[in-house]
Amino acid sequence: MSRRSFHLAFGLAAPVAIALAGFAPAALSAQQGGEAAPDEDVTFTRDVAPIIQQNCQVCHRQGSVAPMSFESYRDVRRYARRIKDQVARRLMPPYHLDTGVGIQDIKNDWRLSEAEIGTIVAWVDAGTPEGDPADLPEPRVWEDRQMWQQEDILGPPDHVIKSLPFDVPAQGGDTWWRPRVPTDIPADRWIRAMEVRPSYPAGRQVVHHGNPRLLRKDESGEHVRLGNLSEYAMGKIGEVVPQDAGRLLKPDDMIEWDIHYYPMGFDVPGDELELGIWFHPEGYEPDFTQDLDNYSLDGDIALQPGGTAMTQGFYRWDHPVRIDSFQPHGHVHLHGMSLQAVYPDGRTELLTMVTDFDARWHHSYIYDDDAAPLLPTGTVIVMTGWYENTEDNPLVDPEVWATRGARTFDEMSHAWIAVTHLTEDGYERLQGEREEARTVSEQDGQRRP
Ligand code: HEC
Repeated sequence: MSRRSFHLAFGLAAPVAIALAGFAPAALSAQQGGEAAPDEDVTFTRDVAPIIQQNCQVCHRQGSVAPMSFESYRDVRRYARRIKDQVARRLMPPYHLDTGVGIQDIKNDWRLSEAEIGTIVAWVDAGTPEGDPADLPEPRVWEDRQMWQQEDILGPPDHVIKSLPFDVPAQGGDTWWRPRVPTDIPADRWIRAMEVRPSYPAGRQVVHHGNPRLLRKDESGEHVRLGNLSEYAMGKIGEVVPQDAGRLLKPDDMIEWDIHYYPMGFDVPGDELELGIWFHPEGYEPDFTQDLDNYSLDGDIALQPGGTAMTQGFYRWDHPVRIDSFQPHGHVHLHGMSLQAVYPDGRTELLTMVTDFDARWHHSYIYDDDAAPLLPTGTVIVMTGWYENTEDNPLVDPEVWATRGARTFDEMSHAWIAVTHLTEDGYERLQGEREEARTVSEQDGQRRP
């Protein structure tokens, strides 16, 4: 694939945020479904259609982001071989967290279960039988207005902070826009969720990323950077802060936007991004504070034609923490990134591994509340990234060099990590609660026949 056509693919995936509104509950229920045993007679209407409806049609339907739609038996049968191949290799749905390695309990997980994959494979192998039309599930109804992706669960945001208008030209190279805007809230509030969205439809085509940074006054009254609130990039849903934690927003804080535009051949006058914020109720006091920061991986990325590279980053806090989410960031050469913990007693644990990273889908892997790793004081986290500038990577031109840089076809090496900062007591308490929950579930397991 040429460089240009890759960029068009970015544009293609752009309206995905709209398409994905309401995806989460469907994906969740799908994880629990799919009981059909592969040795039964598998039919389209009874067994396969519900899986496709709940996990694929969000993108594979008329007017959504995927190039082919899977809305009828005929559509699906036509692509049956490719569907089998894509689901068996876990390339579709596009979600790149490794299965069976590291923490598997993730919020808003798009992956199919083993049973669902088995059903699809068995159906294709059996010659794609249609089955009884009476077994077909009710067709799904899709809402195509511009929604916030978390709106289905949380309702519309409590507060929206916009960037300032920017005229994106039709032609030219990458452009950065960093306006500062006030928070516009009357009193201190604790944030429970956030989401950044570009304008629709044009903004989605030309915004490469948009990060709202939080600035707070220091003693001298100067606004200084405290870290990021969230990030927008293709495929990303937003931030969800665990119930016991919050991120503080103050009336005299400022938001500094860091927006990377990429001209796509048409003018976009006065473009603006929006940061939607959902607050904890007024008067709520969280036990702990959480923040989202950019953790960089060091090392040269000098990718010669046909070459590979590796980067690594290390970090240690001076207090216990809980890691709430992990999002690798790279561009087209990044092949994979892992997150490991080295505990003070020397034990190491692979927390998360993302092998087939795909820059068209920026997933932030948000750990389930009872699975988010608790790290005692002194733990070191190790992030490792791998880069490929070879024929095996369809997204690059393996004839040319690539190095570090901020443009779309340069490379980057960092991870966005949301961290809850714990006290020693808080750490002990959370550890204790986890152990208790584990003992109870083990006892439950023993009681069962
Ligand atoms: C979040 C959006 C999204 C979801 C969900 C999704 N797809 Fe896709 N799919 C795409 C896009 C975009 C493409 C085209 C670009 C690409 O290949 O990555 C695609 C391409 C494909 C292809 C063609 C790939 C090839 O090159 O042969 C198949 C087959 C496919 N999807 C099957 C599925 C199946 C089956 C599901 C559900 C189990 C699914 N997809 C879920 C977005 C999605």
